[in-house]
Amino acid sequence: MLLQIASILLSICATVFADNAVLNSAETEDYERNMNQSLLWAPYRSNCYFGIRPRFVNENPMMMGLMWFDSSSAEGVSQLRHFVDTGDKLDKYGYELYDPRLGGREVIIDSANNLNLTIHFAKSRNGENWGFRVSGRPLDSSKSKVPSLVMYFSQNGEKGHLNQDLTKRQDNHHTNLKGFSPELGNYDIHIGDISGNYYSRGPALAQDADSSKTSHISFTVPGDQVWKARDIFQSMLGESVQQLLSSGNKMHPLSLPSALIVRNINNFPSGNFHFIQKTFDLDQPFEFDVIYNKKGSQQRIKSSDELSTLISWTVSELEVRFNNKFDIEDLKLKVFAQETLANLMGGIGYFYGTQMVDRETELDEEHFEKIELNRAGEEGPLQLFSSVPSRAFFPRGFYWDEGFHLLQMMEYDCDLVLEILQSWFDLIEEETGWVARELILGNEARSKVPQEFQIQNPNIANPPTLLLCFSELLTRASDLQQSAYGSTEEFSTVAGSQTDELLRRPELLTSFAKKVYPNLLKHYTWWTDSQRGFTEEYMEILGDSLHPEEAFRWVGRTFTHCLPSGLDDYPRSQPPDVAELHLDALAWAGVMTRSMKQIAKVLDMSEEYEKFAQIEQNIVENLDTIHWSEEDHCYYDVTIDDDSDEMREFVRHEGYVSLMPFALKLEPKNSNKLQWFVELMADEGRLFGDYGILSLSRKDEYFETGEVYWRGPVWINMNYLFLDSLAYYFEDGGDAQDTKTVEKARQLYHDLRKNLISNMHRVWAEDGYVYENYNHNTGKGSGVQHFTGWSALIVNILGRLPESL
Ligand SMILES: *[C@@H]1O[C@H](CO)[C@@H](O)[C@H](O)[C@H]1NC(C)=O
Ligand SMILES: *[C@@H]1O[C@H](CO)[C@@H](O)[C@H](O)[C@H]1NC(C)=O
Repeated sequence: MLLQIASILLSICATVFADNAVLNSAETEDYERNMNQSLLWAPYRSNCYFGIRPRFVNENPMMMGLMWFDSSSAEGVSQLRHFVDTGDKLDKYGYELYDPRLGGREVIIDSANNLNLTIHFAKSRNGENWGFRVSGRPLDSSKSKVPSLVMYFSQNGEKGHLNQDLTKRQDNHHTNLKGFSPELGNYDIHIGDISGNYYSRGPALAQDADSSKTSHISFTVPGDQVWKARDIFQSMLGESVQQLLSSGNKMHPLSLPSALIVRNINNFPSGNFHFIQKTFDLDQPFEFDVIYNKKGSQQRIKSSDELSTLISWTVSELEVRFNNKFDIEDLKLKVFAQETLANLMGGIGYFYGTQMVDRETELDEEHFEKIELNRAGEEGPLQLFSSVPSRAFFPRGFYWDEGFHLLQMMEYDCDLVLEILQSWFDLIEEETGWVARELILGNEARSKVPQEFQIQNPNIANPPTLLLCFSELLTRASDLQQSAYGSTEEFSTVAGSQTDELLRRPELLTSFAKKVYPNLLKHYTWWTDSQRGFTEEYMEILGDSLHPEEAFRWVGRTFTHCLPSGLDDYPRSQPPDVAELHLDALAWAGVMTRSMKQIAKVLDMSEEYEKFAQIEQNIVENLDTIHWSEEDHCYYDVTIDDDSDEMREFVRHEGYVSLMPFALKLEPKNSNKLQWFVELMADEGRLFGDYGILSLSRKDEYFETGEVYWRGPVWINMNYLFLDSLAYYFEDGGDAQDTKTVEKARQLYHDLRKNLISNMHRVWAEDGYVYENYNHNTGKGSGVQHFTGWSALIVNILGRLPESL
């Protein structure tokens, strides 16, 4: 498999670096059109258990969502499932297989409702049309629950697009909706049953309160309120039930499911919004289809049979693509990896809306108190195509997480990665170069975020992981160019699918680099200017060896937290000081600079290349000049202590921050400091653990104190970087290192990789979830459950990194 990657990447660099092939604009357009088409439709409302919307369509897009509840009890409705929510305590939910270009299979196990739901989603080959199939069965057939499934569809229509566009024709098992979207044209949606019985054990309460039929009501909901479908349903149902009760009819106990059918008791005229409700008797499994077809499409999905064929094709294609990219022999581990990758990709969403920004409030750099950002204005709308850290808990874009998500997805589909990178880079502000740390666009996204975290501030930065990802891509390309094996011919046999076009036609990467360069330069300037540290006092101590421009700190830390660093409660200097310098901020500046240098190289801009190469060199030197303690053999944050003779004081904590120069590959390959990194990581008394490298040394005074967030627990994103760096420094023999260090590094690599895999797999096999981090003492999952954001990097650990060095 490595050979495959090698030959693939070789073909990139062959063209990228040899000569800047001139790109025919018709070709770029073709490529773009393909991307647009294959990524148009998907369950992009990843905050919902299942919710579909198109990408890049902002004016009156068709939106749908699926909800369900148990209608055998009156409490069922209050537990209506809609947005992914850990409070629902589902036994399991998520994708077993998924790729937004193709479709996939999501499985939901909801034992409180005795329900096993499987949803297959598939698309026509040209991406224009799609369908999904919902299959439900009881988990325990001796239990009598009555699942009621509610779907809503909305055109987000403005007045004038409404009634005439949405007509219906229906019998008891089939519903047809017709619609129109200004950007996508006319379409129709067919909802049809395949099997199962509606619930009909009790008499109907009214003609429109009859669970033995599909119920369909339509009315108008303003576009920006559609996401409140759950509240709307509950309040309409409440009114309906009240009316039934007040009519004085004695209700038959078996008729509760009929009472819980939503009705249009106010006689609202039909409009853009539809509820379709089906209540099933679980005496037998049920199955129904929803099929969307664009009017006049060449590739209409004409029937359930055709959808079945598409679903089978999709499922087998997903298998093939996964196997093409990852080589995992152990079947159990392979299923774990497939599912984990599917859930990372299943988090990909399309977001559109305004964001809240406070550009006025000054941060407190004297007392480092927490500052309320309460002078926010609403800005935008903006759009974002991105994955999310966790569909349940963090269903929005995170700048610091996304680069890690892409490091994983890069191994599966480079084109998709570029598409997401581009969306983020498009958000770089024209005037300032800023990008928000969290992209919380629109009310739907905001509804999941506590007020105090909704507001973004343009002084706050975050680790530029997106540039790490871009840098990785370019580095590997150039490395492979220098190695002399592989050929472009070999590549075409690997391809076999429409993805990774970028790798087949590397000039696309050049054209991408050219396009994003001006934005990235602005972003780079904003980042380095805003986070630059105060170096006057250090110059007195360190003299000429210091490069005063290349020293950084995270602006916006408080007494207890440094949220901008991404390592929230990792211990920093106490007390805080405006003159402290953060090691990880400098290391991340190094990553950004290296990435800019690489882009300049790809674009043949030699002057810029030289400039960035010089800055990178300065950064590498400053790591040693400012942050290295020769006494301890360790890198640390530093601060100024006026009372000490030395003035510069090392902030002595061993953990993820002190490993950053290694993790981000800034340490030169022949550095004699590598042995100390290996020593620290392999030390069981400090950072080595049975479940991965700990975030903070066991010997640290802050170890396991406070929130115990980045003060002990094992994080997969960082552990991935450690493994990747060990491979980078030691795979080819670690020539410049002494044999003892090389041997130790290899042992460490082997043990660490094994520990991470076996623990994460064990936890997943036990309870079906991947976690935000893992307890360093027990290996148990901790933090947010179903965190298939950067924890999904376990797939690369399993399927990309070598088993041993
Ligand atoms: C692809 O979609 C984007 C966003 O809607 C659009 O700006 C671009 O023109 C489209 N490209 C092509 C070739 O259709
Ligand atoms: C759920 O149903 C599917 C078939 O639709 C079956 O393969 C799977 O084993 C079921 N899962 C559970 C936990 O019952």
